[in-house]
Amino acid sequence: MHKQFQDMAFDDEEFLINSLKKNNRKQKLSADHAAREKAKQKTVKALTATRNHDVETAINHFSYQASRYEGPWLIKSLTEFYENNWINDITRMIKGGKEASVYLCETLNNSWLAAKVYRPRKFRNLRNDGLYREGRENLDEDGNIITNAGKIYAMRKKSTFGKHLSHQSWIKHEFNTMKLLYEAGCDIPQPFTSGTNSMLMEYIGDESASAPVLQSVRLTHSEAKELAQRVLHNIEIMLANQRIHGDLSPFNILIWENNITLIDFPQSIHPNQNPQSYNIFRRDLEKMDQYFRLFGVSLDADQNAKRLWQKYNYMHAKDFLYDLPDQLEEE
Ligand SMILES: Nc1ncnc2c1ncn2[C@@H]1O[C@H](COP(=O)(O)OP(=O)(O)OP(=O)(O)O)[C@@H](O)[C@H]1O
Ligand SMILES: [Mg+2]
Repeated sequence: MHKQFQDMAFDDEEFLINSLKKNNRKQKLSADHAAREKAKQKTVKALTATRNHDVETAINHFSYQASRYEGPWLIKSLTEFYENNWINDITRMIKGGKEASVYLCETLNNSWLAAKVYRPRKFRNLRNDGLYREGRENLDEDGNIITNAGKIYAMRKKSTFGKHLSHQSWIKHEFNTMKLLYEAGCDIPQPFTSGTNSMLMEYIGDESASAPVLQSVRLTHSEAKELAQRVLHNIEIMLANQRIHGDLSPFNILIWENNITLIDFPQSIHPNQNPQSYNIFRRDLEKMDQYFRLFGVSLDADQNAKRLWQKYNYMHAKDFLYDLPDQLEEE
């Protein structure tokens, strides 16, 4: 080919490539736009469906296909978060617990949150919550202390309305405690928002795997030593902030990339409000001590319980220190 034509051909080719690239970019942009629009329309459809309690349409929208029993409850519980743009998808169930199920949710900017959704009261496997509720204030749906005499009466009488209020108070208590402890520097998931029956918090894990609980992992002696200190440190921050976990065990501590995260706080108590607080506190330490002993590390539960109780100068310390009642029964 003549050089002049060769150059032209080359220039043309370059031009062609460039314009193809441009076109591709344009196409990609419009494809992205179309995808976004489609997602938006789907979202609007799901939103309308959730609002109209059209559970089937709403459930079909989400990646996680809930069962017939779970679907209506799940949609009802998470609609608020969905409407307020906290979440964009329910991806999968992380774990179905005794009291609540926890779901992995995707956010609008492609990150993750964990949604803890309490079971309907009638399906809840109630723990012995009377022990933890003793001396504790009741919280309304906004997390404020209930002072209304009628509501207090309903709760005491355990009428249907009263049970509903107590259930709500239990949930708000978990959220408020987590807010307090997160701000105090405890290793717990950051709590973001709570609804009438659920809460959204930081998710521990990645897309494919959620953090396992401590109970399910084997530790080396040195790992156990380090983590035991970290657990004790958390127990102390909680106590310094007038909180006792109340159900601390290797089942309620997640481990991810060598870091621990304490979870599950609805039963947490105030050291000066609950008459059994010292025993519950000591039991938390004992359960963790039992676990760490499996790897040759002692948490000195009794000694540390006394030491911390005295350090923060809690009520009844003297009676409890020298006359400990039998250990509380396991539930
Ligand atoms: N923030 C989180 N990130 C990842 N996984 C979580 C998170 N919170 C909870 N989980 C998972 O969900 C499970 C249940 O959570 P949680 O202990 O708060 O509820 P529960 O109803 O008391 O459950 P259980 O009866 O199993 O104790 C946990 O064992 C853990 O596997
Ligand atoms: Mg738990």
